[in-house]
Amino acid sequence: MNIKNILIEKANAAMLAAGIPEGTNPAVTQSTRAQFGDYQINGAMGAAKALKTNPRELAQKIIDNLDVSDIAAQTEIAGPGFINIHLKPEFLSASLEAANKDSKLGVSEHQPAKKVVVDYSSPNLAKEMHVGHLRSTIIGDSVVRALEFRGDTVIRQNHMGDWGTQFGMLIAHLEDLLNQGVDLENVALADLESFYRDAKKRFDDEEGFADKARDYVVKLQSGDAHCKKLWQMFIDTSVKHSEEVYQKLNVTLTRDDIMAESAYNERLSGVIDLLKSKGIAVEDQGAQVVFLDELANKDGEPSVFIVQKSGGGFLYSTTDLAACDYRSNELDVDRILIFVDARQGLHFNQVEITARKAGLLKDKTTYEPSLFGTMMGEDGKPFKTRTGGTVKLADLLEEAVSRATEKLANRDSGLSDEERSEIARKVGIGAVKYADLSKHRTSDYIFNWDSMLSFEGATAPYLQYAYTRVRSIFRKSGVDSNTLNAPLSIIEPQEKTLALKLLQLEEVLDLMISEATPHVLCGYLYELASLYMTFYEACPILKDDVASDVRDSRLVLCNLVANTLRTGLELLGIEVMEQM
Ligand code: ARG
Repeated sequence: MNIKNILIEKANAAMLAAGIPEGTNPAVTQSTRAQFGDYQINGAMGAAKALKTNPRELAQKIIDNLDVSDIAAQTEIAGPGFINIHLKPEFLSASLEAANKDSKLGVSEHQPAKKVVVDYSSPNLAKEMHVGHLRSTIIGDSVVRALEFRGDTVIRQNHMGDWGTQFGMLIAHLEDLLNQGVDLENVALADLESFYRDAKKRFDDEEGFADKARDYVVKLQSGDAHCKKLWQMFIDTSVKHSEEVYQKLNVTLTRDDIMAESAYNERLSGVIDLLKSKGIAVEDQGAQVVFLDELANKDGEPSVFIVQKSGGGFLYSTTDLAACDYRSNELDVDRILIFVDARQGLHFNQVEITARKAGLLKDKTTYEPSLFGTMMGEDGKPFKTRTGGTVKLADLLEEAVSRATEKLANRDSGLSDEERSEIARKVGIGAVKYADLSKHRTSDYIFNWDSMLSFEGATAPYLQYAYTRVRSIFRKSGVDSNTLNAPLSIIEPQEKTLALKLLQLEEVLDLMISEATPHVLCGYLYELASLYMTFYEACPILKDDVASDVRDSRLVLCNLVANTLRTGLELLGIEVMEQM
């Protein structure tokens, strides 16, 4: 259920009946303070301005036509023409009783479902996954989970970089190692970083090696069997490295979701032919170039978008144009979401404008590069190892788990060693994920172990702990939360605030889905956990003098809080535990 949408519909009808033109924004928002009710309809002010009438009088006309008796106890006009809506406690309790019986907590499914391509993670296979791919992987994965929870059809696409010019150098180096009898997986490719470094050194220093490398790329891209075989060996090992990281990170990507750059190879020459025939791409110093006036600089010079190199080689840009065609024209999707570093913003603008002109993207498909900022170290510079190298994701995650283990070590929980290590894993990985997901996607953020692993403030450990606290009430009460089905009565103000928050999950998910911003769900879960703590202080549950109907009603609220926390954290890809 989405209360905001219900009110928007009702407000639209009332505004129309009050003589306000169709399409006027009703401006429905959640109230920021209890004294302003639970929601507000703020559209009277804008409409009055357009109609040149008195906003308070117009607000009154809207109220006269507003049919909210089923959900609201009271409506009133405030200030210059705000309409405050106070929801009925009985409406809240009936909605929550229904949510308590529903495995999706009352969150409905999109009708009709949208078809969405989500391009995320997408590491370059020449090297090991580094922290830059952390953001794409976990932000993308949580948006995918939320889309599916709302009933949309998601096609995951891991647009791995497996086709660039570096691959000539890598397979030439690999060939030599294999000829020397070096074991492929355990030695040659055990550490992709050093393999890359060695190959690059030979490329720069060794007589004849660079020529061979260049020759091998051309051969590879034109289908030579020997080069293809070497390439495949390299790719397989590199993909295996990524899969280990995905498993540690608890993300939903599988091998079947790989739709790498190489998958578009067959389409690339067709894309260039099309751009040339439509006069969109023109020859410039031997290369094929699209000049984009739409993105001209302040001197009026068009933006330059190279789609084919002078030697005939294809580029990252060509692949992305082919991907537009495949996704929009063949898969026929409504949305394309791409989770990628903000520094690639211009590239995707160029892709979209070119693709739309060429008909590689149809009108129905929205193209949504979802850019993210950089993960920074304490020094405010991009996150690096102490010696200035790139941080491997696998190492970072290992450190997270060992720090969580240390942190949890002196808790007297009565749990076995095995249980403890499982909990430490969930806490460590969860902490890294929540710290990242809770920041606005587009901002840079500073990576800090102590704050992300803290049990206070907006962190995964705090939320995981809050979950265990709610669950412990059920252990103490002996009530089975699965069969708990008591009537709810909302009496205390803390109960009402908590009830309203619980009913806003769908609103939050819709915002997260439409803007590809998991931080709104992170913030919501933190607020929910905090409101629960306030409720718990104010409203006794298991004390002897609490009447049984009050106790059961409060237990239903507890159950909804636990299930909402668990579901919300799962949508962020963060696991919970019963005890800590
Ligand atoms: N491989 C690229 C990188 O590591 C990201 C690819 C994003 N997706 C795309 N369709 N270009 O930066």
